[in-house]
Amino acid sequence: MNKKIKKILNKKNKSKIVCLTAYSKNIAEILDKHCDLVLVGDSLGSVLYNFKSTKEVTLQTMINHSKSVRLGVNKSLMVFDMPYNTYRNPLEALRNAKLVIKETKCDAVKLEGGKKIIPIVKKLVQNKIPVMGHVGILPQTDKKFTFKGKKQQEIDRILNDTKLLENAGAFSIVLECIETKLSKKITDNLLIPTIGIGSSANCDGQVLVIDDLIGLSKSKFKFVKKYINVSRIIENAVKRYKSEVTKKRFPTRKHSFNT
Ligand code: KIV
Repeated sequence: MNKKIKKILNKKNKSKIVCLTAYSKNIAEILDKHCDLVLVGDSLGSVLYNFKSTKEVTLQTMINHSKSVRLGVNKSLMVFDMPYNTYRNPLEALRNAKLVIKETKCDAVKLEGGKKIIPIVKKLVQNKIPVMGHVGILPQTDKKFTFKGKKQQEIDRILNDTKLLENAGAFSIVLECIETKLSKKITDNLLIPTIGIGSSANCDGQVLVIDDLIGLSKSKFKFVKKYINVSRIIENAVKRYKSEVTKKRFPTRKHSFNT
């Protein structure tokens, strides 16, 4: 088994697994120093491209961003989020996941879904491709983005889905917007780690979209905590630059080539 995946698995019941998304090298380089896992999420569709849905994200776009992220990630596990319609059946999933690994050198892929995708997860795992699951809100296919775990039928289905994913060989599962008691039940029920986003502190790890955390996006989700306002910092720098250029204070002799 991949050493980095082993490290993630070994953290279960010991210490929290720290995960963030990255879409390019410079940010990835910073995250790599502090994260266990860096996810190239298809959330880049809304964060970077203003798409209404992640359905619009293509495999090639994900590959391009992942190639850049790969340049910054050495220590952490790098996970590639398979976009919509790239894993509709086991053979399509295998063909695309092989291409993704060849092109991006990522360590694992993430797929959204439960029972329906079990044959796909099995096919990838049989072919030595590590798979991360994703249940709860499924941005690629859900119509309504409300938290999961209100009704008993839904609770039973998600509990069953997560066990099926574990049995199929997934090495961890993202729980997106799952009710607090249910995220505990799922986490206690599994040997593999759960990574929460909007799913309380009951999960084995936590993931957020980096642009939300640093205040570069305009996201207002309840589960996001903004740790810094990078937009303001960048804007202040740009304003100072503009002022110096217009007042002819930059560039100076120091920034010029002189004989
Ligand atoms: O696309 C993404 O960034 C994700 C995370 C939010 C888990 O799937």
